[in-house]
Amino acid sequence: MAEDRQTEIRGAFDAAAADFAALGRYLWEPIGAAAVATADPRPGERVLDACCGTGASAIPSARLVGHDGLVDAVDMSGPMIDQLRRLSADLPQLRAHQADVTAWAAESYDVVQSALGIFFFPDMTAGTDHLISRARPGGRAVFTIWRGESMAAAGRHLGRAIAEITNTPPPAPRPPHLLDQVSQAGSYAAWLAERGLADVDVIVSEMALTMTPEVAWLVITGSGFRGALEKVPADKWDTVRELYLASLRDDGVTELDATTLIGSGRRAT
Ligand SMILES: C[S@@+](CC[C@H](N)C(=O)[O-])C[C@H]1O[C@@H](n2cnc3c(N)ncnc32)[C@H](O)[C@@H]1O
Repeated sequence: MAEDRQTEIRGAFDAAAADFAALGRYLWEPIGAAAVATADPRPGERVLDACCGTGASAIPSARLVGHDGLVDAVDMSGPMIDQLRRLSADLPQLRAHQADVTAWAAESYDVVQSALGIFFFPDMTAGTDHLISRARPGGRAVFTIWRGESMAAAGRHLGRAIAEITNTPPPAPRPPHLLDQVSQAGSYAAWLAERGLADVDVIVSEMALTMTPEVAWLVITGSGFRGALEKVPADKWDTVRELYLASLRDDGVTELDATTLIGSGRRAT
């Protein structure tokens, strides 16, 4: 069951990879930059960037650690890693690896970070504990997650569009997930402290994405929502797009909440 879910997530991101990079400048890159500002990698440091995607946090980190440092950027999606290798060709200190990071063996990193990745792990707590164990004692851990209902409106409107075209009821809400319990600043901080981190801090990074038709559609084709779209025959995608954009318009949605929580702490010595 957990393996099926992993395969489904990987399939969604494999398909989304090209548009993921295109959506990057609107969404992933500002979120990655905010996470990196918190992690603050310094020249010569070693960074593990888990669930790196096309490098929104791995690339700026590689620039900061410089040629004497190292960024191991890990993602389970091959097409994501291919895009990252293309985008980081001038950064030899960034090593891109296709792997399941919940089984990553190397350790003693100065910084372990993951932007918008830990909630995809089959067991979010065990996976995050594993990442923390990859930091050296005293090393920094920085994990970004969505706050509350961030991004949810896009999924709802896509669900309505797909239901209309496939003549099926709107999709049921997704099954309960730990993220539902820890997606506010206070509960997230408490959960991170339970992981054994010291000096836990959570920054609320407010963001609203302007939903031009181009960006609104990239949000679907260049993110995890791509998985739902892939279940619809490709010759119906133009109609899904029109119905989705009309649904957003009808509800007066011009902006999408993309607020994140940047949680940080130090691995206890
Ligand atoms: C929403 S994207 C975030 C990418 C990037 N950190 C960013 O902020 O742009 C989530 C990524 O996590 C990756 N992922 C999910 N579970 C993973 C795992 N167990 N090991 C490695 N990568 C994983 C997916 O393939 C996807 O590229």
